[in-house]
Amino acid sequence: MSNNIEYDLQSDNFFNNPFPTYAEMRKNKPFYPQKTPAGHTVWWITRYDDCKNILADSGVFTRDFNFLTRMAQMAQAAQGAQAAPIQATTTTKRPLIDYFTSHLLLREGKEHRKLKHIMSTFFTKKLINSLKDILEKKAEGLMQYQLQNGMLDVVQYSNAFTIQVISHILGVSDQDGAFLLKQISEILTIIDATDNISSFNELEKSLQSHGAATNLVKYFDKLCEAKLKNPQHDLISTLLQFKDQKEGLAEHEIYSMVAVLIIAGYTTTAHVIPSAIHSLLLHPEQLKYLQQNFADEKVMTTAINEFVRFCTPVMGMSRWTTKDVKVDSGIIKMGDIVMPNIISANRDETVFEDAEKFNVKRDPNPHIAFGYGDHLCAGMHLAQLEIKVVIRYFLSKFSQMQFAGEPDKLKWQSHLLFRGLESLPIRMEK
Ligand code: HEM
Repeated sequence: MSNNIEYDLQSDNFFNNPFPTYAEMRKNKPFYPQKTPAGHTVWWITRYDDCKNILADSGVFTRDFNFLTRMAQMAQAAQGAQAAPIQATTTTKRPLIDYFTSHLLLREGKEHRKLKHIMSTFFTKKLINSLKDILEKKAEGLMQYQLQNGMLDVVQYSNAFTIQVISHILGVSDQDGAFLLKQISEILTIIDATDNISSFNELEKSLQSHGAATNLVKYFDKLCEAKLKNPQHDLISTLLQFKDQKEGLAEHEIYSMVAVLIIAGYTTTAHVIPSAIHSLLLHPEQLKYLQQNFADEKVMTTAINEFVRFCTPVMGMSRWTTKDVKVDSGIIKMGDIVMPNIISANRDETVFEDAEKFNVKRDPNPHIAFGYGDHLCAGMHLAQLEIKVVIRYFLSKFSQMQFAGEPDKLKWQSHLLFRGLESLPIRMEK
């Protein structure tokens, strides 16, 4: 095996069609190290079994943000310095960083289990069943004003639908949901840009100098005060029931959980719906099969599994390595980032027959689009319902659907973690 292979993982070509590169990486360099501009090493992991093994081993490959704090302290101690404690702002009880990094996706072990358990008390089977009618109404209502002269941009439609759903789940208005999404995305851009694990004080300074984080904490203060006075059947009211209880949630954990839910619950599902319609339009015989069988639950469930496998929206997830690990192509060092690319795992030819083919009848379909191990997606059942409601609505109401432009000209977003189309204009007729 050559050690000098270089893959271009940032170009438009890659984002428009990453699958040939992933196939080559699976074959030739299943653990591919890449240097970040700040000098850290990120290992791209592309085979199914390797991705699963890493995701299953949260002791060695962790998502725990506290690990970064420990690394930062160690780095400073090595230089004979002591980490200065991060100060709270003048207007908030804690440093801003705590309000956005204290959620279940950045915790492991006991703390993670606590947060996941609290989340599961909300996302019950009963809740999901009760949402079907509400989601169907939203799917129909949106179509009435987004479909113009038989033309629809499925990306815009899907974005609007998913933001409405997550706003409903949280118990905020659609406008507030859109506001939250914008503010949180800005904050995440600041956190992601801090590619230096020894600079928490710098990160805190960036958050404090950018208005979004402080504004958001103020917004959450007001929102939670109102919900405490008048609790509803929504996720924020549910989280507030656990506030300040033994084994419960502190305020910054609640705000953090709301922030992660907006992002995790929106981008993912919003991307899958257009990608699924795109795949169906490219495979008219499979579109016809689903148009004839959309009422059959088993047919739809099988098809949805294939939508999320073939159109995996979360390309890769990161983990920090807690001790040196030897692999064929070198040593993954303590502190290195590993990135199981589940989008590639889901096309692994050793697991899936004709892995590069879209097949809505694929069964079994052991994809890992919703992750694997302790951090398995907490909103999986909601996401499946959202996709089912929208796709079924399209299939049942519109006998004709076709691309409005040339499919070759469609562009995919240039994003390292999420895969979705920039736009998908289609023509539809009843
Ligand atoms: C098709 C849609 C979706 C896909 C493909 C998806 C995928 C994923 C993946 C891959 C992870 C694991 C991340 C990791 O291990 O680092 C994850 C975690 C998570 N997802 Fe989803 N997701 C979807 C929809 C949703 C929705 C609708 C919600 C909530 C409303 C949601 C909430 C979460 C949460 C809270 C976690 C963190 C779980 C934990 O850390 O234990 N997701 N999701």
